[in-house]
Parts: sequence; structure tokens; C-alpha cells
Amino acid sequence: MQIVSPSLLAANFANLEKDIEMINNSNADWLHLDVMDGVFVPNISFGFPVLQAVAKICRKPLDVHLMIVKPEKFVKEVAALGAMMMNVHYEACLHLNRVIHEIHEAGMKAGVTLNPSTPVCLLEDVIRDVDMVLLMTVNPGFGGQKFIEHSLDKVEQLRQMIVRTGSKALIEVDGGVNKTTAVQLAQAGTDVLVAGSYVFGAENPYERIDYLKNL
Ligand code: DX5
Ligand code: ZN
Repeated sequence: MQIVSPSLLAANFANLEKDIEMINNSNADWLHLDVMDGVFVPNISFGFPVLQAVAKICRKPLDVHLMIVKPEKFVKEVAALGAMMMNVHYEACLHLNRVIHEIHEAGMKAGVTLNPSTPVCLLEDVIRDVDMVLLMTVNPGFGGQKFIEHSLDKVEQLRQMIVRTGSKALIEVDGGVNKTTAVQLAQAGTDVLVAGSYVFGAENPYERIDYLKNL
């Protein structure tokens, strides 16, 4: 069984209410929300006014993925949404240990995210403190990109580190998750699958969510 966190980035932004109702009525576990600033990644998605509107009507726990510089500036704002998980990028935090503690103090679970080019071994000194590691399986910034195969090795390496250190961290993957890659990822040892276009691009998104859940 996998935890499934559909990414709203691939939803219809002209009618978010309809897509959030679909998520509410589905077997999805969480809703994944991608915030981009045009600096950390070469794209801009949505910010707090949209997140607040989404949080009001979404009945699933919010899994917030900040692709922004200095994410520590927004811990309070993310907590005020009632978010369950705040994911910050390893590459965006100079003082990651402090940020993780601030996220916990604000009452949220803390996730640390790695870009495809950032090695898993760099997590050695934070792995016991985080609730989740989000491995990017594409370069962040856009939906609908091709899965990077080397990610499967990273999932295995991370699983080994978690077992060795006794960490309770979940392994989440994000980018290029589809019918085929989801099977490979689950076999490699993931706990949480994020899927944007695979879910929202489907004629029957409920079926696709169930498929991912049952891997
Ligand atoms: C990309 C985002 C993803 C994105 C995934 O930077 O972090 O969450 O929505 O999109 P798909 O599943 O279409 O690759
Ligand atoms: Zn994401």
C-alpha cells in the first residue's frame, strides 16, 4: 500500500473547486501543493491567497512543497493553513536543522526535499529529525516531465539509511509518476507517491488514485 498525494499543479486552475471535490471524494490520502517563486525554480505556480482558498474546502491533509528560496520565512503562514506537512528543499536552507525545528514548533510535520542532483548521503545528519524525505524524480518546476531513472537507486539508498539509523522518515517521490514508474518506485521502497498529470490528466482520476494506492 502506498500513501497517495495528488499534485494540484496539474488540476484545472479555472475550476479548482471541482478538482478538490474530486480529491475529497477519492481515496487519495493527502493533497500535494507546489509553491514556486520563479527564483529557486524557473516557474511560478501559486501563493498564499490560493492556498488559503484551497485549504478552506479541502478535507485531506495538506502536503505543502515549497520550491522557494528562504522557506523559513513562511513557517507561520504555512502552519496557519492548517497544513499537515511542510516540505523545504535541502538546497534552499542554509540552516536546515533550525528550519526543521521551527516547523515542528509550529505544529507541523517536517519534510526535507532533494533535487535530482543532490545525493542522499547529505541527509545523514538530519535523517533522525525529519518526518519525511521528498525525493524529486524530475527537476522541480514543471509538471509532466520524464522520470529520471537514477531516482530508483536513490530510493534504495535512502531506505538503507532509514533502516540503519532507525529513522521514522517516510520516503515520498515527486515527478514523472505514472503506471510504470509507480510500480518500480514502490518496489524500490517508497511510502508516498505524488502524482500530478497521471491523476488529473485521466478520464477517471479515481481509478488512477486507487491503482497507485494498491501498489
Ligand atoms: C514539480 C512538482 C510536482 C509536479 C509533478 O516541480 O513538484 O509535484 O506536480 O507533476 P507530474 O506528476 O506531472 O510529473
Ligand atoms: Zn511537488
